[in-house]
Amino acid sequence: MMYHIDDLTCNGLRRPKGIDEKSPLFSWKLSSDRNNTFQIAYRIVVKSSGALAWDSGKVPENRNIEISYQGESLRSGVYYQWQVESWNNHGETAKSAESFFLTGIMDPALWQAEWIETGMAKKPLTDLTDAGAILAGKVSSDDKPEAKMDPAAYLRKEFVVHKPVKQALVYAAAHGIYELRIDRTAVSNLLAPEYTSYAEHLEYQTYDVTALLEPGVHVVSSILADGWYTGKIGLMGIGRQYGETNAFFMQLEILYEDDTRGRVITDEFFKWSYGAYDYADLFVGEYYDARKEPDGYDIPGYDDMSWQPVQTRNYGSRMLKGQSVAPVSVLRTITPAVRRTPKGEWVLDAGENIVGYTACSVTGTSGQEIGLEHSEVLDLQGNFLQNILGQNKHQKDRFICGANGENSYCPKFTFHGFRYVRVTGLAAVRAEDFIIHVIGSNLQRTGWFRTSDPKINQLQENIFRSQQGNMLAIPTDCPQRERAGWTGDMQIYAPTAVFLMDMQAFLKRWLYDMRLEQLADGQIPHVIPAIGSNKYIDGEDKEQICSAGWADACVIVPYRLHRAYGGLQVLQDNYDMMKRWMAYVEAQTGESCLWNRGFHFGDWLIPSIMQETGDPMETAERTREEVATAMYAYTSGIMTDIATALGDVAAAEHYRKRNLRIRTAFSDTYVGADGGMRHPYQGLYVLALQMDLVDAAKKAGCIQHLVELIHQAGDCLDCGFLSVPFLLDTLCECGEQKLAYKLLYQEAPPSWLYAVNQGATTIWERWSAILPDGTRTHSSYNHFALGCVGDFMYRHIGGIRMEEPGYKKIRIEPDLDCGLDWAEGELDSRYGKIKVSWSKGGGYALSVSLPPNTSGVVAVNGRQIEIGNGITLLRYNHLSSYC
Ligand code: BGC
Repeated sequence: MMYHIDDLTCNGLRRPKGIDEKSPLFSWKLSSDRNNTFQIAYRIVVKSSGALAWDSGKVPENRNIEISYQGESLRSGVYYQWQVESWNNHGETAKSAESFFLTGIMDPALWQAEWIETGMAKKPLTDLTDAGAILAGKVSSDDKPEAKMDPAAYLRKEFVVHKPVKQALVYAAAHGIYELRIDRTAVSNLLAPEYTSYAEHLEYQTYDVTALLEPGVHVVSSILADGWYTGKIGLMGIGRQYGETNAFFMQLEILYEDDTRGRVITDEFFKWSYGAYDYADLFVGEYYDARKEPDGYDIPGYDDMSWQPVQTRNYGSRMLKGQSVAPVSVLRTITPAVRRTPKGEWVLDAGENIVGYTACSVTGTSGQEIGLEHSEVLDLQGNFLQNILGQNKHQKDRFICGANGENSYCPKFTFHGFRYVRVTGLAAVRAEDFIIHVIGSNLQRTGWFRTSDPKINQLQENIFRSQQGNMLAIPTDCPQRERAGWTGDMQIYAPTAVFLMDMQAFLKRWLYDMRLEQLADGQIPHVIPAIGSNKYIDGEDKEQICSAGWADACVIVPYRLHRAYGGLQVLQDNYDMMKRWMAYVEAQTGESCLWNRGFHFGDWLIPSIMQETGDPMETAERTREEVATAMYAYTSGIMTDIATALGDVAAAEHYRKRNLRIRTAFSDTYVGADGGMRHPYQGLYVLALQMDLVDAAKKAGCIQHLVELIHQAGDCLDCGFLSVPFLLDTLCECGEQKLAYKLLYQEAPPSWLYAVNQGATTIWERWSAILPDGTRTHSSYNHFALGCVGDFMYRHIGGIRMEEPGYKKIRIEPDLDCGLDWAEGELDSRYGKIKVSWSKGGGYALSVSLPPNTSGVVAVNGRQIEIGNGITLLRYNHLSSYC
């Protein structure tokens, strides 16, 4: 028989480099071809170069997630090999293949590098700060960005390797983003060091360059671009949000064969020069002039006499932390199709709306400029249309050919959200000369879902694509206009996100930044990392800079991670932040328990209000009070659970009581005797019912009101951001399952399938981004938020529902009468794969597969049966198990 261990992860990452936590967490997955398999004991052995660092001994436990390292102190820059052995209840033993993790800098005293800057004269910052004009779409990207943009800098230093090298590791970070080379080889990750709350948390990357260092002379060099640090970021598109100047930081640690050590660092011996990038901005794009490339700067002996000395800076290493998330990478490539538009322009079509950039290899003449301008839609006539308005939203790369003949170009310091690329500067465009790189944080896919309905399948694909495109260093709201870590968006989408991808390490890092950005009074800013220029949007001296439903992410996101992945660490890490936030809300709501003051985004972007007024703030205005109070009820309920899980009995009791009072106050204040509310919006009813805010006597009436509102809307949804994730669940829980599915399959706008019918390949920010008459509006076509229906489909159609955190216990309850002929859902949980498939035909056949160490219950047709792990086959009507 077969019993296997695989998918070993350390801090949630496979074979990570640069771990610098004292006690990293180990997890593994089990598989078995027997039913009812449980681990009864495990043993973890960690070694470095054959020497034992930790032997857990045989531990008689069935845990296989988040087991913390308890061995000797981890040393810096060391590969640790680790292996797991597992014993099960059938008397079988499994031994995993060896995995490893490489430590980063464990001892801060080891940091010897200095920060270096160029001191280049920078152009004055002229970005507009008029938020009103920008929000009203009255500002557009200017024609000559070079007039205000600064060039990227090239930096280099030569060094000598005297003797044979056993191991060489580079640690690098930057203010800005860097490409790092050892001689001609680029060794760095894309867009490193990524985006974090830089002042307190800046991640360094660890690269193994052993194979590149033969004895002899070498060059370490870097190209340093603006990135998030000084680039034109956020909704406002304003530069220099984190500092005035870019800086580079690098330390190369060499261990020679004879066990002596050497070190190369950034210091005053580096020199810098301008190069081929007249500018390189994440949002604006690159302006790359190949004629200016300082050829050979990355090989020893290059004449750098004309290069200038760098300036060293004492920024210290206090904020440095090893990269804790899978790096931004090229995830796949696409060869585009070529179109000639009615206007006669050349446009590349990626066939799907993606995030990345366009590389080309073309025949040109020296000085010829080729433009690559990116957009998500074409207009109704099929002409290129820049759908994103605003300041510094060019999304245009410009490439100047260096020589006559073959010229190649691939962007390095920018990315775009796009499906279409307008190509200028070439007489004829051939598809094979272009290749589109899809990039993102390299997160593991964990969810798959298919049904007999191709439109539903397309919807799930679109949800996945939007998630993939927006998980780039941080969870962004959209990949073109703002690329900001809007807390509300991630909060509503978290339950779907954790079905589709392994989000744990990625969101843990983001939550770390959230903790750093929390204000002294407990408030959480709207976007994490916080962006200084948001003050122009929020109002400079506002006392309240947070919103219900957005800041609540600090409670909801850790809770969702705990539920999806098990383990208490994520709750422990964030507990203090949550409690401080809850205390802030308690102070705002006082004795009344109603949050009826201050600014809130409310049930953001309610379709009917948008149609009536065109003003998103109107949705905020009309719904904020009920929504804020409902969200408070929601988080106080979650806090009761969290405090209980953490054993904080007094706090649990406090939140439980508060939750009761909020619910009573809500019902008394906002829900009339007949269950009606003062504002006729579906979302308010959804939130009231979902958060259990309606007195029992008024409940039936309340449900009736919701149902009527839906009918009045032509059986279409009319919910905003905060209520739409609960819409279908609420209806199902209120006995309106048929109506829930009607909304899911609805094709008239506003609906999920309307966009699918319009050819969408991603989730749009607005239900009617393309109007029924075909008009393309200037909005985002890649906002994952409204994809929050994704998990409903996994839970209700696929039937995969979690009973105990981490899916230790699983409830299989598919809605077999949802109107589909068959469905398949799969979730690669922390314990291993959960698979459910069912099909109709002379009754229903249901197949369930659960991983070792878990158990489940199948609830179909009003009957429940307990099942073990392994494979279970059932038939509808006469349930029989073939275990
Ligand atoms: C973003 C959202 C965000 C919202 C705040 C928008 O500009 O794109 O997704 O949550 O502002 O209400």
